Amino acid sequence: MQECMFCHKPYKEEPYEICGRKGSWEAPQCDCEEKELKRQEEAEKERVRQSRVNALGLPPKLKPYNLDNIECEHRAEARLFVEGFKPHRKGLFLWGSNGNGKTTLAAVISKELAYRGRRVLFTTMTEMLNKMEEGVGAGRAANIKRLLRELRTYDFVVFDDYGREDYTPSRLQNVFLILNTLYEWQVTFCMTANPECINRIANIPELAAIKDRLSEVLINWKFSNPSFRRAK
Ligand SMILES: Nc1ncnc2c1ncn2[C@@H]1O[C@H](COP(=O)(O)OP(=O)(O)O)[C@@H](O)[C@H]1O
Ligand SMILES: [Mg+2]
Ligand SMILES: [Zn+2]
Repeated sequence: MQECMFCHKPYKEEPYEICGRKGSWEAPQCDCEEKELKRQEEAEKERVRQSRVNALGLPPKLKPYNLDNIECEHRAEARLFVEGFKPHRKGLFLWGSNGNGKTTLAAVISKELAYRGRRVLFTTMTEMLNKMEEGVGAGRAANIKRLLRELRTYDFVVFDDYGREDYTPSRLQNVFLILNTLYEWQVTFCMTANPECINRIANIPELAAIKDRLSEVLINWKFSNPSFRRAK
């Protein structure tokens, strides 16, 4: 007689009848094998969730933080944001001085959303602008179109350190294209910014024109706690 490979309980001969034909089979007398199958399915799901988080490509420094261990004045709001997240909802503008945890919170929110199956992009405006300058002539125009189309497919996009990027007239036009695309397609996004960067771009007329749209679709979370960097 066969036995369970986990608890070694012997199988039992059990009769069956299918379409009038009688027979018997050796049936397990425990649920170990079912449980093992469930465990493997769960492990596989968890592996997929983790691989989505890894695909964000966050720097290792941001990896240890999560909603439970992060010390942040907006932690409770962040949890609500994550747990109640629906695509096309209002995004976030995280601002405050250097080192008080804006990037870390944006990364934590990104990880939680990716873990829950959302399509998330964590990037900087600099990285986006550089990508948009790849290729020449018609190739570049097609590349820009492709990048903008791809942006529309995300549930959540983070631009870390908005305002730090270098601008030329064509880069300014690209910032406008990026933000306008997100605005028109109602893609939820998040920006982190410090006062110097905000001041830096305040006097650029092209960006001032987008400011109204930003304040329409982003909720302000001010970070006023002292810098973690100085505390270290
Ligand atoms: N909640 C936190 N608890 C402890 N240390 C933190 C926390 N958030 C950030 N840090 C640390 O503080 C430093 C600055 O955080 P960061 O998120 O880069 O700040 P910001 O983006 O506001 O400049 C980093 O070294 C980070 O590891
Ligand atoms: Mg930062
Ligand atoms: Zn068993």
